[in-house]
Amino acid sequence: MESREISQAVIRRLPRYYRYLGELLENGVERISSNDLSKRMQVTASQIRQDLNNFGGFGQQGYGYNVKYLYTEIGKILGLEEEHGMIIIGAGNLGHALANHAGFEKRGFVLKGIFDVNPTLKGMTIRGVPIYMMDELEDFMKNSDIEIGILTIPKAKAIEVANQLVDYGIKAIWNFAHTDLNLPDNVIVENVHLSESLMRLSYNISRYNEEHRAEK
Ligand code: NAI
Repeated sequence: MESREISQAVIRRLPRYYRYLGELLENGVERISSNDLSKRMQVTASQIRQDLNNFGGFGQQGYGYNVKYLYTEIGKILGLEEEHGMIIIGAGNLGHALANHAGFEKRGFVLKGIFDVNPTLKGMTIRGVPIYMMDELEDFMKNSDIEIGILTIPKAKAIEVANQLVDYGIKAIWNFAHTDLNLPDNVIVENVHLSESLMRLSYNISRYNEEHRAEK
């Protein structure tokens, strides 16, 4: 397939297509029309056609989409067919929760080590993955194939540690610390802030309450 620039808005929607198509596959569905997919996903059929046309349009008029093919192609676009080595920095509540989630591996994201500064954690493991001390990080990075660093440490330390990871050659950072990292352009950063999602929820609750007050 020809590779060309795909808008970030489309990229943000792809994981959801991937999830729905995966469920269809599990249920033995071989093909689906954009109209049926539209009903399930609550996205307009024209949005679906437009999005999927970005990849040369896998659909055929009157046939619909081949679920397996589309699922596989979207997986390739999302880079899910390759293995991505990961480490977690910060083995606290959030670090534990992420390390305990087995689902990432199914998609090729393999957790290879967990790092912390708290000496009481040294030598412990989470789901079989060892917790190392931060002074072991440099050597570990040299000897393991790590692409993604997951930052689950306090905000005050996040920038310093992110820069350290960059020095050791990290390609991408999944940042959970509540701070912007401002790293060099060649380092890919994806920020995840659950509280922002919660604020959007709160906004919608307020809007709902407003509307219903007006109805009374
Ligand atoms: P926690 O206090 O349970 O864990 C933090 C861990 O980081 C501790 O084990 C600590 O020893 C370690 N640590 C501290 N400095 C370090 C350093 N320089 N290098 C390596 N490890 C270091 O905190 P929790 O609840 O796990 O939260 C972690 C971070 O994630 C906090 O910044 C918190 O604000 C943030 N957070 C973000 C969320 C999000 O949606 N983005 C949701 C929940 C928490």
